[in-house]
Amino acid sequence: MFVRSIACSVLVATAAVASPVATSSSLFSCVSQVFAASDPSQRIVTPENATYTDARLGEKIQFEEFPALIAYAKDVSEIAPLVNCAVAYGVPPVARSGGHHFLAYSSLNGSLVIDLSHVNHVNVSADKTTASVGGGIRLGALYMALDEHDVTFVGGICPTVGLSGLLSAGGFNMQMRAMGLSADYIASATVVLANGTTVEASPSCNSDLFWAIRGGGGSTYGIVVEVTVKLVTFPRFAAMSLEWSAGDAQTRLDIAKRFLEWGPALRKEVTSQINVYKDTISIVGVGLGLSQAELQALVDSSGLTSLGNATVGVFGGCSTDNMRTFGYTSFACEADDKVDKKILNVVPDPFSQYESYPQFSYEEVTESSTVTQADPWSRFLRMSKSFFVLENAPLNDTVLSRVLELIGSADDDSQIWGEWHAWNLTAAPAGNSAFPWRETAVAHLEFQIHGSNDTKQQETYETLFTELESVLRPAVGPASYSGYMDATISVDHLEAYYGDNVARLVEIKRAYDPGNVFSNPYSIPVELPADVTRT
Ligand SMILES: Cc1cc2nc3c(=O)[nH]c(=O)nc-3n(C[C@H](O)[C@H](O)[C@H](O)COP(=O)(O)OP(=O)(O)OC[C@H]3O[C@@H](n4cnc5c(N)ncnc54)[C@H](O)[C@@H]3O)c2cc1C
Ligand SMILES: *[C@@H]1O[C@H](CO)[C@@H](O)[C@H](O)[C@H]1NC(C)=O
Ligand SMILES: *[C@@H]1O[C@H](CO)[C@@H](O)[C@H](O)[C@H]1NC(C)=O
Ligand SMILES: *[C@@H]1O[C@H](CO)[C@@H](O)[C@H](O)[C@H]1NC(C)=O
Ligand SMILES: *[C@@H]1O[C@H](CO)[C@@H](O)[C@H](O)[C@H]1NC(C)=O
Ligand SMILES: *[C@@H]1O[C@H](CO)[C@@H](O)[C@H](O)[C@H]1NC(C)=O
Ligand SMILES: *[C@@H]1O[C@H](CO)[C@@H](O)[C@H](O)[C@H]1NC(C)=O
Ligand SMILES: *[C@@H]1O[C@H](CO)[C@@H](O)[C@H](O)[C@H]1NC(C)=O
Ligand SMILES: *[C@@H]1O[C@H](CO)[C@@H](O)[C@H](O)[C@H]1NC(C)=O
Repeated sequence: MFVRSIACSVLVATAAVASPVATSSSLFSCVSQVFAASDPSQRIVTPENATYTDARLGEKIQFEEFPALIAYAKDVSEIAPLVNCAVAYGVPPVARSGGHHFLAYSSLNGSLVIDLSHVNHVNVSADKTTASVGGGIRLGALYMALDEHDVTFVGGICPTVGLSGLLSAGGFNMQMRAMGLSADYIASATVVLANGTTVEASPSCNSDLFWAIRGGGGSTYGIVVEVTVKLVTFPRFAAMSLEWSAGDAQTRLDIAKRFLEWGPALRKEVTSQINVYKDTISIVGVGLGLSQAELQALVDSSGLTSLGNATVGVFGGCSTDNMRTFGYTSFACEADDKVDKKILNVVPDPFSQYESYPQFSYEEVTESSTVTQADPWSRFLRMSKSFFVLENAPLNDTVLSRVLELIGSADDDSQIWGEWHAWNLTAAPAGNSAFPWRETAVAHLEFQIHGSNDTKQQETYETLFTELESVLRPAVGPASYSGYMDATISVDHLEAYYGDNVARLVEIKRAYDPGNVFSNPYSIPVELPADVTRT
């Protein structure tokens, strides 16, 4: 049963920001009054500012979304008054945490972007079972802060992804076949609603909202300003890395096909992925609590090592820091005092400079003062496609070889790759979130291209992706990851991203944001669209 109770309201100290709406003359002055107590001139970016281009871009370089104003919050108490300002001046408020949305929906045209990347505190409880965390924190910063307490979070892979954006999609990770999704490791969240009320969302307070903000899409029901995460420790684990340089089409097909059977069927401790590039293929994976010999035995009996010329590495005794960097900056498990963790030590604004545009900068402090700051995270013209393979529809050889052929057909500039994760979470502890494909997903197939500014070249990439969609979609069906939204998806986006949960999410949306104050082109609407059939 859902519980919606006034007792779950949260009183947030607002002394510094008494009713800016009543006394302001414009959105800008309203936001300035919210920030009045601390550096207002440094935290508001308008299209007139030289830093606007940098500030409106997340990781993705894009020329589609131009917000009206970008407000960099630094305290939980500022978010509700910012929402009130936006509503009062008829400007849609949009939350942004990590800024990785694949269609830049955290930076919408004409919106007030409420940037939470500086709302990134971490407060570990005395018994180290939970931490109260700012809703805008980036995963790398969260891992660094938790490291100091020898605890961690069942989080995703990329250090610059924002926690609240990750949770809004579900949060896959390299422990998930044994442990489940990131969304399963949340005890409660504090959410600012469209009418400026701040509420608690947990299994006992506003439990419908709690369900929806975990997998039901971002910036739709309210803004997540603080999250209580459940902490874990990982046992020492074993890791594997298999690599193939150029191979013929048949060998590539054999490897990909074998991985898609093998990865999802392994014992639950092993979570793995295959990366399919134009020429090379690699498989990386971790075996939680497994010894090197145990993982070696699984690799030896996989049938993979006899396909083509595989270079195989299996390591044991790996630590949590190894886990966070394995496959990114390291392909071995170094001793704890040798691991270079700097990739995790990200600042609130961690991205590389775009062309010669000046970069927005404000209190760019890392969580760890002892580890080197991460290098700037590269921006690019990201193009992406996402498909879940469900249990009842495995890929046949015809489809899989055509997919590999398409990857091979792209030019080198595209840097095309397929990043395919083995799922099958059926042995993980039960979760209860709005992520719709937990019981049925066997694998997730993600495709990435670095887009081009050259119109002709860009057209070839678009054609390739259209072909990929037409080859794969009929084979796998609509299921896709809402963390990788795609404007050229060929099926109904609500069904693709929310499956059978659409009708329930629409009801929750209507209860918490009846005026559709929080919305983007793919968000759950307040009315069930007539063409949605899965209810
Ligand atoms: C390099 C890379 C690696 C990735 N790896 C993984 C992975 O391992 N596992 C995984 O599951 N996903 C992964 N993703 C996908 C990622 O989790 C999603 O794209 C996610 O939505 C990004 O969240 P964000 O906060 O960074 O982005 P944002 O663009 O800030 O936000 C994404 C969406 O959430 C909304 N939102 C942001 N903050 C809030 C808030 N505080 N309250 C309410 N709504 C909010 C935004 O409005 C937007 O709709 C990866 C993405 C990249 C680019
Ligand atoms: C934006 O420009 C205005 C006017 O020049 C300036 O006062 C303000 O400090 C700038 N904002 C930022 C964040 O640099
Ligand atoms: C956003 O506005 C700009 C002009 O300011 C326009 O070029 C662009 O197409 C708009 N984007 C969308 C997604 O409508
Ligand atoms: C951290 O938690 C402690 C105990 O729960 C509390 O007293 C303190 O105010 C918290 N600090 C922050 C910054 O939230
Ligand atoms: C899912 O994983 C379990 C082991 O955790 C295994 O028994 C089952 O066969 C797997 N299912 C598929 C479709 O691979
Ligand atoms: C494996 O390597 C050998 C020697 O380098 C080469 O002759 C052979 O073609 C390779 N096989 C495959 C399948 O790539
Ligand atoms: C790419 O195109 C955009 C928009 O037309 C332009 O602003 C930018 O300078 C171009 N970049 C390059 C490297 O050509
Ligand atoms: C392979 O799957 C596709 C898509 O489901 C289907 O159209 C095709 O007939 C299948 N081919 C074979 C040989 O089974
Ligand atoms: C704000 O919205 C919530 C959810 O719709 C509602 O329960 C609450 O009564 C509203 N509060 C005020 C002050 O209007």
